[in-house]
Amino acid sequence: TKHKVGYLIGSLARESINRKLAKALVQLAPPQLEMSEISFKDLPLYSYDYDADFPPVARAFKDAIAAVDAVLFVTPEYNRSIPGGLKNAIDWASRPYGKNSFARKPSAVIGTSPGTIGTAIAQQGLRSVLSFCNSPQMNAPEAYIQFTPGLITDAGEVTVESTQEFLSNYMAEFSMFITRVLQVLPRQAS
Ligand code: FNR
Repeated sequence: TKHKVGYLIGSLARESINRKLAKALVQLAPPQLEMSEISFKDLPLYSYDYDADFPPVARAFKDAIAAVDAVLFVTPEYNRSIPGGLKNAIDWASRPYGKNSFARKPSAVIGTSPGTIGTAIAQQGLRSVLSFCNSPQMNAPEAYIQFTPGLITDAGEVTVESTQEFLSNYMAEFSMFITRVLQVLPRQAS
């Protein structure tokens, strides 16, 4: 069976290396995974004042998450955390109270940085957020990708074979994780 995966790219930058990584992951994903980007760049800054009446852009964002079986976060590390835009998007999705879009929705995190620890600290923070949001997360494999110039082309091709194999395996593992989670937690009507 096919599984729909929505991916959120933490960076809004035009030349984002995490967007390149996401492009590579889409190409390396096993055929069972249908990958689609869920954009959050047009969301206003969240406040619970919106809870009584979400604006259309926020409803569309929550609907997009509801429509997928699992969520993949591909994020840079900004100041040892996830970018504010991504945190804002997660806050929107988690509300209003009782309508948390991430509840029981399987997820995985990955990211790339020119630095040697490859977004590890941002990912650790994101995992805490996703835990609170009750999203079952793939614990392993972890993926901390150090971006070296040319590692991934603009077309999303991974130029280092060992990295390509690692990323293919990561996506295959995510596919199996989604299958396992959906066996015990079938998707609820929302
Ligand atoms: C960074 N960068 C960075 N890198 C890192 O490994 N740890 C960090 O804490 C930070 N902090 C940080 C803060 C801010 C505001 C910026 C703009 C950048 C460098 C970062 O990894 C690099 O710019 C990447 O290109 C960001 O990924 P995207 O946005 O290109 O996908």
